[in-house]
Amino acid sequence: MDDRTQKGILVDDASDDRSYENAHVEAAYARWAPIYDLVFTAVMRPGRKAAAAALAEMASRGGRILDVGVGTGLELPMFDPRGRIIGVDLSLPMLRRAQERINQQNLRQVEGLAVMDAARLAFADATFDRVVAPYVLTVLPDPHASLDEFLRVLKPGGEIVLVNHIGAEDGLVAFVERWLGRRAAALGWKPEFPWAIVGDWLATRPCRLAERKTLPPLGLFTLARIVKN
Ligand SMILES: C[S@@+](CC[C@H](N)C(=O)[O-])C[C@H]1O[C@@H](n2cnc3c(N)ncnc32)[C@H](O)[C@@H]1O
Repeated sequence: MDDRTQKGILVDDASDDRSYENAHVEAAYARWAPIYDLVFTAVMRPGRKAAAAALAEMASRGGRILDVGVGTGLELPMFDPRGRIIGVDLSLPMLRRAQERINQQNLRQVEGLAVMDAARLAFADATFDRVVAPYVLTVLPDPHASLDEFLRVLKPGGEIVLVNHIGAEDGLVAFVERWLGRRAAALGWKPEFPWAIVGDWLATRPCRLAERKTLPPLGLFTLARIVKN
């Protein structure tokens, strides 16, 4: 991770090697960055708070936490100030917003931000005590490749904390999600995201599901805690 920095944000050279899908995601989040907080602060707050609560004990002991897809950093002020957090994201415009938040609120728990692809993390094996990814999995072109990376950089006994919308299997909500799914490239995430994507991955990796619960509003989102063996 000895590359370029832009106003305190590390820009990993490997992030220049963009896939077609990542280029679409980056373009979508460059559009979202100026208005993201306006649209997504309130509706996704319960999930961010639930993720912070799941990390609280480890953060209070000064544990090392990787926040993947940290975006504008809306979850960062919720993390215990004794934690040691690194935030990574594919989108530099989103990270610039996060850096402003860190400066304005003097968030000492954040050790650094870096532009980085979730599927190619520039960290050594077993670096972190926790990996948290709030509202990110549905955005990734290859969720299994990214989950493998989360597991690799986690210490044995460490936890992955995911918060996500899990798609409905049938009914009106499933219909609306399928309709929105045809606009996924412009939205920047996939509204149809079956739990089986996580479940199939879990079944074949050295880890186990410790908790899975739905969250407000209206049970739209799910928190999952996965422990590495
Ligand atoms: C819905 S936002 C969530 C942001 C933040 N965690 C929150 O709770 O508001 C998804 C974030 O994932 C980032 N992202 C998308 N693909 C990524 C990838 N391959 N690697 C890292 N971050 C990615 C996007 O740039 C965006 O900032």
